[in-house]
Amino acid sequence: MPEENRLDAIATREQRATVDPQGMLDLVLKFPDQCREAVSIPWHYGVGGSEPAETRRIAVTGLGGSAIGGDFLRCLADEYGPIPVMVNRDYHLPHWVNRNTLVIAASYSGNTEETLQAIRDAGLAEAQIAVVTSGGRLAEIAKHAGYAYALVPGGQPPRSATGYMFFPQLNFLAHRSLLRHTFDKDIEETVHVLEQLARRLGPEVPTAQNVAKQLAQALYGKIPVIYGSQGYRGVVAYRWKCQFNENTKIAAFSNVLPEQNHNEILAWVQANKQAQNWAVVFLRDPQERSENPRILRRVEVTQELVGRVAGVYEVYAEGESLLARLFSLVYIADFVSVYLAYLYGVCPTEISYIDHLKEELTKLG
Ligand code: PA5
Repeated sequence: MPEENRLDAIATREQRATVDPQGMLDLVLKFPDQCREAVSIPWHYGVGGSEPAETRRIAVTGLGGSAIGGDFLRCLADEYGPIPVMVNRDYHLPHWVNRNTLVIAASYSGNTEETLQAIRDAGLAEAQIAVVTSGGRLAEIAKHAGYAYALVPGGQPPRSATGYMFFPQLNFLAHRSLLRHTFDKDIEETVHVLEQLARRLGPEVPTAQNVAKQLAQALYGKIPVIYGSQGYRGVVAYRWKCQFNENTKIAAFSNVLPEQNHNEILAWVQANKQAQNWAVVFLRDPQERSENPRILRRVEVTQELVGRVAGVYEVYAEGESLLARLFSLVYIADFVSVYLAYLYGVCPTEISYIDHLKEELTKLG
């Protein structure tokens, strides 16, 4: 069957049962509802943790699909302040973490060994500690130590639970005035934008009208390189890369301008000698001109140079608020990566290599 027809023959759950037996696309379609639900997830407060102290910086510690919510938080903190957010993707926290640091340990399963080690570090540093998880050992630690924790619904792949993992963190910061912005309207807008995208990109919308299916087709057999035009699009470009890695099981790379213009741009001089099948997706924002007019010229020149050896595609953020624009670009990748998995005939949910690696490490004790 031609690829176009393959993507148009998956409108119902039954039709996609073979290629998507665990229903990743159903989770993607429910993502707007997940975000709405996630906003109301309550925080539990214990009596443990450090003595109250001024919060001067925030470290979110987590890995993979659980860390990316921290990246989103960082983008918002960069915009609205007043204090910095960094994301730690390692066993150990930086040595500057102390009682003036809020450490948010984010692990969907609650059993990721790096995150469990990092929360121990946070305890030793007498940091302020908050936990977002669906359960596991991390939930036990939080309850036992009396840390603040938000318990999110479990039972799905972490990368499909970004709403559950992110919005409780946003609430935690907003309620403590650690972000100088009110998000109620932005959240409403975000969910609305996501719902509209779900209608336009869903499986029942034929390829001819469905830009996610069209992009998946264009990327089939190619090595996707995702470039964020600037700012938060760098974080989202990394999320696209990870979604192609995990959902589609293919190599993909990401970077952001202007940094790309100072090194990786030269990769395109000889990239076609390494492989013939590159495809570059630029993540753009309708507001980028007002952010920085010079970035437009950078994008144009980069596209011209890259376009000499690769197909070039553009995807634009939607919505007005930063939150909506960020999540709109994130959401489009969910559809594209799952449709591309269908074209390759791989199950978007299975992560056998990650599971294997985690099992091997468990044997170390
Ligand atoms: O998406 C995935 O399954 C992974 O990237 C996980 O998020 C990662 O392995 C960390 O696991 P957890 O999110 O349960 O802490």
